[in-house]
Amino acid sequence: MRKLVAGNWKMNGTLASLAELDAIGAAITGAGGGSAVDVAVAVPATLIAPAAARASFGIGAEDVHSADSGAHTGCISAPMAKEAGAVFSIVGHSERRAGQGETDAEVKAKAEALLRHRMDAILCVGETLDQREAGDAEAVVTAQVRASLPDGAGGDWLAIAYEPIWAIGTGRTATVDDVAAMHAAIRRTLVELLGEEGEGVRILYGGSVTADNAAALLHAPNVDGALVGGASLTAAKFVPIIEAALPQTRAAV
Ligand code: 13P
Repeated sequence: MRKLVAGNWKMNGTLASLAELDAIGAAITGAGGGSAVDVAVAVPATLIAPAAARASFGIGAEDVHSADSGAHTGCISAPMAKEAGAVFSIVGHSERRAGQGETDAEVKAKAEALLRHRMDAILCVGETLDQREAGDAEAVVTAQVRASLPDGAGGDWLAIAYEPIWAIGTGRTATVDDVAAMHAAIRRTLVELLGEEGEGVRILYGGSVTADNAAALLHAPNVDGALVGGASLTAAKFVPIIEAALPQTRAAV
């Protein structure tokens, strides 16, 4: 499966930061990686339009509301993000599940809004450290997948991002074996729910991905890409992660 390396700028970036997108675009074209790996970056709502106007790869939103319009102060809808130039959105990021109290049902409705508007979705799931230490990580994550998987889920528009909460922004990454085990559990759940279609849904890993650990993580079984926070903010840190996602024979050349 073709890998997807997606950035998530979170609440970072101003117009001046868009030069990084130019540098990322130039590097992936130059490396020939543009054709072998899908690249995308989710940016703050304020930057979607200017970023989409100049990026040579997909620009997305970090969140959308499940409704198309209405009395939801401060939110943006899928059609609004699309009009600004977003071709995808992240939904259900743990920082929103925790900070904004988003439930699986809301995350599911947000993903369904993206499907309605023919946008791609990256749907995040992940366990807390307490849940992992209690031995509940797999049960928690597969339950999140079951409860937040949108109707109409399919590999042509949906990716799942496994982001263990304790690995986000901490410099701690899950071991490759733990990531492979969790991705296998997610894959089994997707196949159980979607049949053959579940084989084609990309499963991304997120949580302190860097140039140093990307190759090992990205080539583990059932790891179809990465969702990268801090290291997506500069081309210098992000481009090596894209290169690490290239098919291994090419990366080794
Ligand atoms: P970091 O790569 O900064 O750990 O963030 C991961 C993440 O939350 C991406 O959505």
